[in-house]
Amino acid sequence: MTIPCDILVFGGTGDLALHKLLPALYHLYREGRLHPAVRIVALARSPMPRNSFQKLAERRCRAQIARSDFDEDTWGRFATRLDYFSMDAAQSADFGRLAHFLGEPGGLARIYYLATAPNLFVPIVTHLSIAGLVDSESRIVLEKPIGHSLESATAINSAIGAVFDESQVFRIDHYLGKETVQNLMALRFANALLEPVWRATQIDHVQISVCESLGVENRGAYYDRAGATRDMLQNHLLQLLCLVAMEPPAQFDAESVRDEKVKILRALKPITDQDVQDKTVRGQYSAGKIGGQEVPAYYFEKDVDNDSDTETFVAVEAHINNWRWAGVPFYLRTGKRLAKRSSQIVIQFKPVPHRLFDGDRANQLLIQLQPDERISLQMMTKTPGKGMHLEPVELNLNLAQVFGQTRRWDAYERLLLDVLEGDSTLFMRRDEVEAAWAWIDPILKGWQEHFQTPRPYHAGTNGPEQAHSLLARHGRAWHG
Ligand code: BG6
Repeated sequence: MTIPCDILVFGGTGDLALHKLLPALYHLYREGRLHPAVRIVALARSPMPRNSFQKLAERRCRAQIARSDFDEDTWGRFATRLDYFSMDAAQSADFGRLAHFLGEPGGLARIYYLATAPNLFVPIVTHLSIAGLVDSESRIVLEKPIGHSLESATAINSAIGAVFDESQVFRIDHYLGKETVQNLMALRFANALLEPVWRATQIDHVQISVCESLGVENRGAYYDRAGATRDMLQNHLLQLLCLVAMEPPAQFDAESVRDEKVKILRALKPITDQDVQDKTVRGQYSAGKIGGQEVPAYYFEKDVDNDSDTETFVAVEAHINNWRWAGVPFYLRTGKRLAKRSSQIVIQFKPVPHRLFDGDRANQLLIQLQPDERISLQMMTKTPGKGMHLEPVELNLNLAQVFGQTRRWDAYERLLLDVLEGDSTLFMRRDEVEAAWAWIDPILKGWQEHFQTPRPYHAGTNGPEQAHSLLARHGRAWHG
């Protein structure tokens, strides 16, 4: 059981809160992981009585939680822990009202979850401090993206650092809460046979793809200012890259793991002006078909500018300047409205040094995060019968099959529990966020300076042609 606390969610009626955080908290409550005295307070602008919020929360949670996991009695008890407070996070006076509403902490830790746009982070933190709502027991959880550039991220981090100690700050990247992502660490650091081959001498290249078939849904206003690079590449994809590339940490604890990750971010080869032209591709979807359904072009989406040049797709060839990875390209790509939802990491090994058989191919390790979680190693084997005919066969580790179809924890459940337990191993440290922005900034600047508009791709395809050329010119191709 975790500490007795108040969990205060800024942006409490937003999609993230209703769609992810509340269902995750319900599951934790159902499993007896939340203290019975926990209080979850949603904070948002619209005035709303408490029971209306409880109804809204119930409707959204029912839609999100599997029927077999939604238990009326448990929900009834959980709902008594839910509260609502109407306030404007930009108004300092409202924090005085909030302090009054919350009353004396009386030994309860206060956990602030900022599920809002990053431009509200600094005002919220400053006002919390002025209203006397922060003490040594408080924790703050920040959703990515932290800022929109290195400069803005540094300003946010400094403002937060003036009020909270780094150990109280939890910068969430929900990809780190995914089961297969943690499995990647188990795979690398608990299987001795992989270590000698996990390096430039054996690996030809690495691909990290997070492809989505969804569009921007109701988040057009946010997304049009962010784009795929700030929304996905700066955080989720770079975090995955860190886990693939980092050195084994001395211990599995927050500082050791994050020390190794930040070394990778700092070793990323800086993107030059020429690289922006040669090694990055930005795209934007035009109208197309997904699952047989016509979908509109990005610039016709709700709350998106009609002449928007925001990218909904990005692909980059990255390099890491260190001994282990010298010369190995890491191809990263992510996009919306692509042919199918699929997130995967592909480790492409080099071919055998001297070929004996026709048709053999180099080994490939596939770590699939979505839609299903599996790890598979492609090996060459002889087909039965006369003659040496080879075929690739997969050694498959299907996690659902091995561990049964028990309910899989959502990333937010795992990460919220870590916040409550004060474990920041799976959260981004300040220096990581800033190192990631330092690498991303020249890409964004380069596109701006060269007026590089996004390449169009039809919704339901695999992205712009140029993303394929990025690999094809070196005789490689995207997997899947
Ligand atoms: C979020 C992005 O961080 O991750 C969204 O803001 C994206 O744009 C989402 O759709 C993808 O997460 P998942 O877990 O569905 O792959």
